[in-house]
Amino acid sequence: MNIMIQRQQQLESGAAAALKALARRPDIKMQVEHNPQLYALLQRAAARYVTGERRSEALEIAAQLIDEHYAVSLEYIGENTTSAEHCRQATEELAGLLSELAEQGINGRVSFDLSHIGLLVDSELALQHLLKLGELSQQLGIELFISMEESAKTDAILHLYHQAAALYPLIGITLQAQLHRTYNDASAWLASGTRVRLVKGAYEEPETVALPRSNELDRRYVELVELALQRGCHLSLATHDEALIERLLQFDWQAAASVELELLYGIRPELCVRLRKQGVPVRVYLTYGQEWYLYLCHRIAEYPPNLFQALIDIVDGGQAAPVLQYRWMKQDELE
Ligand code: FDA
Repeated sequence: MNIMIQRQQQLESGAAAALKALARRPDIKMQVEHNPQLYALLQRAAARYVTGERRSEALEIAAQLIDEHYAVSLEYIGENTTSAEHCRQATEELAGLLSELAEQGINGRVSFDLSHIGLLVDSELALQHLLKLGELSQQLGIELFISMEESAKTDAILHLYHQAAALYPLIGITLQAQLHRTYNDASAWLASGTRVRLVKGAYEEPETVALPRSNELDRRYVELVELALQRGCHLSLATHDEALIERLLQFDWQAAASVELELLYGIRPELCVRLRKQGVPVRVYLTYGQEWYLYLCHRIAEYPPNLFQALIDIVDGGQAAPVLQYRWMKQDELE
């Protein structure tokens, strides 16, 4: 391999690992959140991926995307909350989000991290909050999806998910293909109608626990898709990997209760447009709130050239709203 290309690849994977390590530093996260100048500067980069600080900003973008025939997920962003009072406030915000989606007739899905609503304080508190949200989501007919966090939390997250989903079947779970354990976990309990989002996994994990990005990981992802399709799950294929998406589009999706692709807001909007034009169901995952630091680090780490984009956004002071890049229906009408 050309030595310059090799060097560039080394730099990119080094930068990705460094960013994932930075994402996990609570001291830096605190600095960003408590230093108004630093917060404002980095917020310009975050604006590419985060709809805003307020629920109303996320709902406005959700409505525009639905107008363009996308489905949406919404997350009030946050994780690793260690104060019971802040966990209660986050639960209230998520409950408010569920209610407002119903009031505005927005057919969206709500996503969240269990460590935002109590997992790090006490798993009983997290369960109480989860059951409260599960009951409300069931009443309103809105899906509620649990995100998956670092592997140290997987057992606890799955335990709470199983307890709550047994009562409220609109609760879904995110599974990480990168973890060695996931195929066995999924084989044990995926069933007809289970709601699953399949991701590769965002967290830096040791090799004993997870695979790095590789062909082997992509094969695993595909095996998990096959399993979920055989079992008749509701399945969100959450990836931006175009080559993998092409493979997934070859599958016979008829067997499943429902299947869709799900991509994060601000990432590959042109791919979302192309997929919608082909008639593929696409869901866009929107986030809002003030705790976007870890989310921003992950989005840059997953594709290190985004570091250059972040620099440009910081200096230029932002960009035209990313939502405009998702337009295809109205554009087609104008053409
Ligand atoms: P991968 O990282 O393998 O990259 C393949 C290609 O995709 C790249 O070469 C690039 O072209 C494109 N790409 C990927 N990321 C990009 C980016 N940020 N910017 C531009 N291009 C990019 N993780 C987790 O651990 N727990 C969770 O709960 C969730 N939840 C979740 C929900 C949804 C809807 C999505 C789409 C993703 C998650 N994730 C997640 C993140 C997920 O685990 C994973 O880290 C990212 O999706 C990146 O992996 P990919 O499969 O997209 O591609």
